[in-house]
Amino acid sequence: MRLPARGRAGGKVILLGEHAVVYGYPALAGGLPTGLEVELAPGAGPTVRSEAIDLAGDPRPLGALEEAAALTGIDAAGIEARVRTELPVGRGLGSSAALVVALLRACAAAAGRRLAPEEEVALGRRLEARFHGTPSGIDPAAAALGGCLRFVRGDPPQIAPITPGAPLPLVLAFGEASRRTATAVAGVRERWQRDRSACEALFERIGEVVTRGVLALRRGDLPALGACFDENQTLLERLGVSTPEIERLVAVARAGGALGAKLTGGGGGGAVVAVAADAPALAAALERAGARTLRVTL
Ligand code: MEV
Repeated sequence: MRLPARGRAGGKVILLGEHAVVYGYPALAGGLPTGLEVELAPGAGPTVRSEAIDLAGDPRPLGALEEAAALTGIDAAGIEARVRTELPVGRGLGSSAALVVALLRACAAAAGRRLAPEEEVALGRRLEARFHGTPSGIDPAAAALGGCLRFVRGDPPQIAPITPGAPLPLVLAFGEASRRTATAVAGVRERWQRDRSACEALFERIGEVVTRGVLALRRGDLPALGACFDENQTLLERLGVSTPEIERLVAVARAGGALGAKLTGGGGGGAVVAVAADAPALAAALERAGARTLRVTL
């Protein structure tokens, strides 16, 4: 085994289609340059340590390390995984997906090999199920592949890279921490079991918004893409995954010149993503309203 070994992966931002994607509808996501690194070193392991993430009482990262080691053919005994992250944790930006992809990459490096992108996507989804039970697989796909992609779940999933017709300036704003994605996904499932036709109708409309959004992104038509963000936010509110704090930040973003704004990820708190016409001015407006911000261009 080759130690120390490192693996890195970026976070993700769901641009359109979260939740509906779990039920087979398309979604649009982007990989973030901001990410997370895992270093495997000899130690009193298997163990996972991080200065940034509170792992006390959370068995999931250790379970993911052990499974990633088994899948890549290395022995986890005696391995210490050190996690360094630039991603805000619990804000819907895919820190658990970045963690599982970075673990897979580090374990593969320790085994002296590299995983093919399709393997990273498939194994990443398998490991991510430890973090939330019925993932669509979009988060590890975005973390593994980067860039913008249209995603439809499946075995294998349908993944189409999308080249934006113009750079896409986004401002992300963080208020409260989100509920665990697992809780948000389970909440939608309960609702779907109670009232399938209402939920399916919302998913159907979200799928249509995604289709229009993909075309707008390809054309580089940012106002049209922003309008899709606004429509998707309304549908997510009807689905019950928004919160008053998200809606406050969405309103601040729109008043601050955003071309469109919505929650991103599981919801129930977490981050808002806005298409910016003037990113510095929009970030300043959101910061005046008490949010932390991150500016990215996809
Ligand atoms: C979470 O980033 C996105 C969800 O659609 C869950 C999933 O697709 O696995 C809420």
